[in-house]
Amino acid sequence: MSKIGDGSLLSGSSKKENCPPFSRGIFITGTDTGVGKTMVAAGLAAWCRSAGVDVGVMKPIATGCRGARAKTLVADDARRLAQAADVDDDPRLINPIGYREPLAPYAAALRARRSVSWPAIRRAFHRLSTRHAFMIVEGIGGLLVPIDRARTVVDLIRMVQLPVVIVARMRLGTLNHTLLTVREAQRQKLPVLGVMLNAVDPPARDAGGRLAERTNPAILCRYLPVPILGTFAHQPHQGPQPWSSAALIPWVKRSVEPQFLRWLLNPVRKGGVDSHRTLCYSHNLAT
Ligand SMILES: Nc1ncnc2c1ncn2[C@@H]1O[C@H](COP(=O)(O)OP(=O)(O)OP(=O)(O)O)[C@@H](O)[C@H]1O
Ligand SMILES: [Mg+2]
Repeated sequence: MSKIGDGSLLSGSSKKENCPPFSRGIFITGTDTGVGKTMVAAGLAAWCRSAGVDVGVMKPIATGCRGARAKTLVADDARRLAQAADVDDDPRLINPIGYREPLAPYAAALRARRSVSWPAIRRAFHRLSTRHAFMIVEGIGGLLVPIDRARTVVDLIRMVQLPVVIVARMRLGTLNHTLLTVREAQRQKLPVLGVMLNAVDPPARDAGGRLAERTNPAILCRYLPVPILGTFAHQPHQGPQPWSSAALIPWVKRSVEPQFLRWLLNPVRKGGVDSHRTLCYSHNLAT
């Protein structure tokens, strides 16, 4: 049975190869752009901080950044992650690579005539991960987003050597995207901790759409070789600022499986919880 933080989540490969005995963080990727990677990453960072974990954050590559000059471009994602984790690290370490145009990194780099510096990412990650006990790193787009001519987000994950959490939309059409992403992660021999389902959009207006939203988790449970680590409800943008810790922390507590939150406090493989079966049983097709 699969356990959180257990290499056996990765079918067809040995534990030894794929899961470090102790993880210094997680890499948050998604099935697409705009699925809620930053919101989930910020929520987990804020929760970790409130639980006493010295958490660092990183958005290694961002596009659609604002700012007057290339050297001072600001990525909203990086700013939000830093605010949630309550860190005052140099923004250039949190987001070493930024482009102004809101494109895939390879396209933005070609148009800006400035290629992605992998050594800069490596140095920034090294600095932050030696400074903090646990790192939450947000990717860009999904797994196969091109970063340069030969490399994608998969190579970024390999570089930082962190286990992966996949954020997926909760709505009709999610099953295919989620299963494709998990399958590709496995094909690339990445250690996958599990999937977070996120209701980015308000509940569907039509009954069919609402039914898909309710039944998707149960179907995914039956198909996925990894656990569903959380199901995030849609957060109406009212009350406390959606990106504030006051809003994010209760959202995480309501949405994330307690076993995964416990794992975040003690991210060792040994003694991982028997999560897959338990989490699957919590999703019922009939509800
Ligand atoms: N559960 C939710 N409830 C309400 N709004 C949400 C929810 N999840 C995400 N959003 C909103 O959806 C938008 C996209 O979310 P977010 O920026 O986290 O996605 P992303 O995957 O990080 O996008 P990108 O690929 O641009 O980095 C944001 O405006 C965010 O506030
Ligand atoms: Mg983001």
